[in-house]
Amino acid sequence: MKFQNFFKSFFGRSPAASWSAEKITDAWFQSHFEYAADVVHAWLSPVVDMRGARMLQFGCGDGITDLALALRYGAGHIHGVDIRREYEKLPKIAQQQIGLSRLPEALSFATITPGTPLQGRAQPYDVLMSWSTFEHVQRDQVLPILQDLYACLRPGGYFFLQIEPLYYSAFGSHLGRYDPAPWHHLQVDDDALWQVIEQCNGPMHADEVDFGFEDFGPDGYKRFVFEEYRALNRLTADELVQLTTQAGFSVVRQERRHYEPAPIPEVLLEKYERDILLNNEIILLLQKK
Ligand SMILES: C[S@@+](CC[C@H](N)C(=O)[O-])C[C@H]1O[C@@H](n2cnc3c(N)ncnc32)[C@H](O)[C@@H]1O
Repeated sequence: MKFQNFFKSFFGRSPAASWSAEKITDAWFQSHFEYAADVVHAWLSPVVDMRGARMLQFGCGDGITDLALALRYGAGHIHGVDIRREYEKLPKIAQQQIGLSRLPEALSFATITPGTPLQGRAQPYDVLMSWSTFEHVQRDQVLPILQDLYACLRPGGYFFLQIEPLYYSAFGSHLGRYDPAPWHHLQVDDDALWQVIEQCNGPMHADEVDFGFEDFGPDGYKRFVFEEYRALNRLTADELVQLTTQAGFSVVRQERRHYEPAPIPEVLLEKYERDILLNNEIILLLQKK
């Protein structure tokens, strides 16, 4: 009997494959494998033991954060769902970035159709997570999706929900990688904004270039990111909290971060509340009581 099979029959799982964070070269990978996973863990660890919890990541993207939670924090079960299939790249990315030969058995992924209910597909989860996803959900689907996620969670379970950047903040357009002017999207129309993007040829911050870039190529990526901008639901922190409460969740903890890279243009202060223009991130710890 091979060692791997012996180990599996004895312990119920294959032995963990080795890996090393010293080999990381990609800034996007690093920011998710380290920063995002650290934040999620810091918020959840006081209330949840990840080793035994059944977790669902809504909008898992390429799954790097899930991978980190499994490898670095011992999360025993994370199912990632997304409307795209970026997670299919994860085995190759993990091999390249941390020398991992196979993904942990703790991880599984599935593609979903936007808005299709998840309730009843699996046993109730102990923990839900969502990182930089809810600003992309079509606005009229936000409440039904939150209600569905509420139904997927066991009573007493927790939901970690983060959005960054919020739409009305300096780089809430998600276009900062092409356009360095803060709040530009609130001051010009889409045609003017697209011209800036189209003409931008400078280097982008490496931690803003995801693994989809190679699929699209430089021009295709610009079009993709711009369409993503146009589809943003423009939720404010207050609206998000209100919707989560309406869906049934209780807010256990929340943090709102603010960012003022330059003085806010007067014309915007006449139109929007100062706090809305400065609030670039919200992190929520919700519970189904
Ligand atoms: C900015 S990415 C974040 C992905 C991942 N959480 C991360 O940190 O890299 C937003 C993700 O939300 C997903 N998404 C958007 N609308 C969704 C929906 N209705 N249901 C599930 N996923 C959705 C997108 O496909 C995308 O992968």
